[in-house]
This record gives sequence, structure tokens and C-alpha cells, in this order.
Amino acid sequence: MSLVTSSELLAKAEKGRYAVGAFNCNNMEIVQAIISAAEAERSPVIIQASQGAIKYAGLGYVTALVREAAMFSTVPVALHLDHGTDFKQVVNCLKSGFTSVMFDGSQLPLEENIRITRKVVEVAHAVGVSVEGELGRLRGTEDEINVSEREAFFTDPEEAVTFVQGTGIDALAPSIGTAHGRYRGKPDLDFQRLKKIRELTGVPLVLHGSSGVPGEDIRRAIELGVRKVNIDTDIREAFVKEIRHVLAVDQDEIDPRKVLGPARIKAAEVIREKIRLFGSQGQA
Ligand code: G3H
Ligand code: 13P
Ligand code: ZN
Repeated sequence: MSLVTSSELLAKAEKGRYAVGAFNCNNMEIVQAIISAAEAERSPVIIQASQGAIKYAGLGYVTALVREAAMFSTVPVALHLDHGTDFKQVVNCLKSGFTSVMFDGSQLPLEENIRITRKVVEVAHAVGVSVEGELGRLRGTEDEINVSEREAFFTDPEEAVTFVQGTGIDALAPSIGTAHGRYRGKPDLDFQRLKKIRELTGVPLVLHGSSGVPGEDIRRAIELGVRKVNIDTDIREAFVKEIRHVLAVDQDEIDPRKVLGPARIKAAEVIREKIRLFGSQGQA
């Protein structure tokens, strides 16, 4: 199959009231883990690469790996740019064959975020590619902030309407209390805010920082309109933990296949669990 857009996947998820997993990749083994998990669960899937992943692996390699994975896959696959912060980077991804891009202007003033995101929508839609925008800031799990500071980072529902209407984005990533990386305590999600953003904007919502969020919270967010759930940290952790384990058992192991192969299996196990949690199994 050739790559599909994330809009196509999210439209089906909307009808079926489930969410599609968007899993971050950095290397060949993780791309393979994502594809094998999606195929085993008969699930559509979004494979995403951050700017850091593209810098590490190279844009050509990332695109080639995911295109190859999709070509022989029996489930629909989208290739998405995660947290693009540079217009030129977005255009390079479009040229390379990505079928979905995120422009993350969450650090910019609202007007500037709208202006650049709209420009991204114009060029991406011209070549049939979907666009995710972000409004409100996701803090890092390491940030020490109090309750009122926390709220100040959250997406304002009225501003979300201005943002969605002013940009024409296909999906919106709001800030409602999740954070990237490992959580120190239990994440505290603002479901009322999520509900309101969804009711006012009507677009599919994206939950970032979803590793470590309890399953019941993920389910509730999906009931309220989240259609794309981003997972990176849980995959990294499973992958690297297994590498550590293999090397602890045999410190003399020098065959990369014997180190990375088992890590790939562990990553795929985590991804399969996530797919079932998001309810996208059997939807391919
Ligand atoms: O949202 C962040 C993703 O987990 C990607 O992280 O920029 O370290 O590749 P990264
Ligand atoms: P986690 O690493 O917290 O799962 O977040 C992933 C993410 O939001 C990628 O955009
Ligand atoms: Zn993110």
C-alpha cells in the first residue's frame, strides 16, 4: 500500500469513535516494530518523526524506511512530521513524501502562530497533505510549576476557535495537562477543557505526551474527541531497557542484531498494547 494521509485515518477514527496511535521512530528497528504491531492488531497507524529524529537518521532514510514499510504493509500507514517548528523543514518533508505534517507554533504569539500555520496549510493542502497545529504550551515533566502557572499553559477554548478558523488545520493539539517524557506524579488532565475545545472547534484532537498517562484517562480523552494519540517515551523505554538487559546477560555480545532484535520485539509489544487501548485494533 502507498502512504495515506492522517486526515483519512482520523476521519475513519471519528466515525468509529476510536483513536489512531502516532508512534515516534528514530531508526529502522522502531519503524519495523511499529509496522509489525499495527499488522498484528490489524490497525491503521501513524509513524512520526521529530526534527531530532530527522537530524539523527536523515530525512531520506526516514522517508525511505517508512515508505518501504508502508509498501509491503497490509494496514494503512501515514508518515507524519512531529513538532515541526520551521517552515522550510515542513516544505522539505512535503518534498520528501510525508503525508502529514505538524507545525508547532505553540511558542509563538497567537497571531504569528496563525500566520505561519496558515502558510503551512496552504502549501500542504496544495499537495494533498494533512496538517496538525498546536495551541497552548505543553510543559516538560521536569518543569516545576504551580497550579496557576499550569493553567496559563493550557489552551483557551475561545482562542482555539480563532486558531482553527484562522488556519484551516485538519487536527488540533491542545494543551490540557499532559507533558512530554516521564511523569513524576500522576498526570492531571483537564477533561472539561478538552470537551469544550472539541465542542467549539469540531476538529479531531491530538493528545501529545501520552506515555505514562493512565489507560482510563486515555479512554476518556478518546470519548471526548481525541483521535490521534502520540507515544514516544514508552517505546524508548521498552527498547532501551531490553538493550540493557541483553548486555547485562552477556556483556561480551557484539552482534548488533542480537542486541537490537530483542529490543524491537519489546517495542512492538508496547505498541500493540497501546493500539488496543486506543481501540483501533481490527479497524484496518
Ligand atoms: O514530542 C517529542 C517527541 O517525543 C520527540 O522527541 O525531539 O527527542 O525526538 P525528540
Ligand atoms: P511522550 O514521549 O510523552 O509519549 O510524547 C510523545 C509526543 O507527544 C510526540 O509528539
Ligand atoms: Zn508531542
